Amino acid sequence: MVYMEISLTSLEQAIQTLEQQLDHETELDPQKLNTKYLGKRGLFNELSKQIKDISPKDRKQAGKLLNALKNSLQTKLGNLQLHKAEDWVDLTFPGTLPPQGHLHPVSQAIEEISEIFKKIGFTRARYPEVDWDYYAFGSLNMPPDHPARDEWETFFVDLPADKKMGKIVLTPHTSNGQVREMERLKGKPPIRMINIARCYRRQQDVTHTQMFHQFEGLVVDQGINIQHLKGTLDYFAKEFYGPGTKSRIRPFHFQFTEPSFEVDFSCHLCHGTGLIGGEKCSFCKSGWHEVGGAGMVHPNVLKAGGIDPNKYTGFAFGWGVERTYTLKEGLNIDDIRLLYSEEMRFFEQF
Ligand code: DAH
Repeated sequence: MVYMEISLTSLEQAIQTLEQQLDHETELDPQKLNTKYLGKRGLFNELSKQIKDISPKDRKQAGKLLNALKNSLQTKLGNLQLHKAEDWVDLTFPGTLPPQGHLHPVSQAIEEISEIFKKIGFTRARYPEVDWDYYAFGSLNMPPDHPARDEWETFFVDLPADKKMGKIVLTPHTSNGQVREMERLKGKPPIRMINIARCYRRQQDVTHTQMFHQFEGLVVDQGINIQHLKGTLDYFAKEFYGPGTKSRIRPFHFQFTEPSFEVDFSCHLCHGTGLIGGEKCSFCKSGWHEVGGAGMVHPNVLKAGGIDPNKYTGFAFGWGVERTYTLKEGLNIDDIRLLYSEEMRFFEQF
């Protein structure tokens, strides 16, 4: 047998090569790597065997180098294992769904309301949210300085008034669409309009926001009477709040309708009885919720829209989307301003 002496230098080179090999490993399983490098028949043991071929005077130094190599391999493999534990992905594990957004509750309500009226032939109309005083008040039988206007807490735009149209206002209600719709159809009924839009009033507290939404229905044709109005309200109540819901109209006063009514819907939590399990229903207290106004279109409004009141009659109704929606959800929102806040915990509930 030929005795081949190995020099310290070549051992050092062999050690370096081994370290580099580990640094460039493509195998990622720490267990396999451990066996490959530090296992019984692993690369480290293979290399250690060479110590017997080192000249006796260098053996001590060779032993040190090999020890250092072992330590280094152990540390590197240990780190790999740690890393691996963090990166561990179980591909069969059910994934976490990314958070999914949804429409704002008021937008959801607007879509639903539009769909409900679409089914009975109403067409959604859109009219300016910044409009002339004439459409918001004047054409609705409220001449300038009429005291009824005070109810609307209107924002007026600080620009000179137009002689015929008056000042520019942020629409305080969707009724500004009534005469606009009559004009659009050049005074030629039938009209079956649903106008849903933003409205603005100088009011801000726990039950009011300065910007809110209303929806306005307008039907004009020959022979339209209060029964058509009542039937429409009942239909909406059932579609929006559920089959058992009823509507109720009570005499009231608006300048643009005659007769005028306030509209109530039966509470769908206590089914209009005012009682839940023998206790007073804490949501409605009386069995009914007041929602808005309605009536038969005033002849002066028809005239303003170029429609002959002797030939045609009509009904109209209008009220707030926010209120309609919170009633449906049975929500006693302490502060309605939450709807227009950035409180995501609130919105995530819908
Ligand atoms: N515009 C009224 C308001 O904001 C609500 C209303 C009442 C609308 C009677 C109508 C109506 O169309 O006929 O208070």
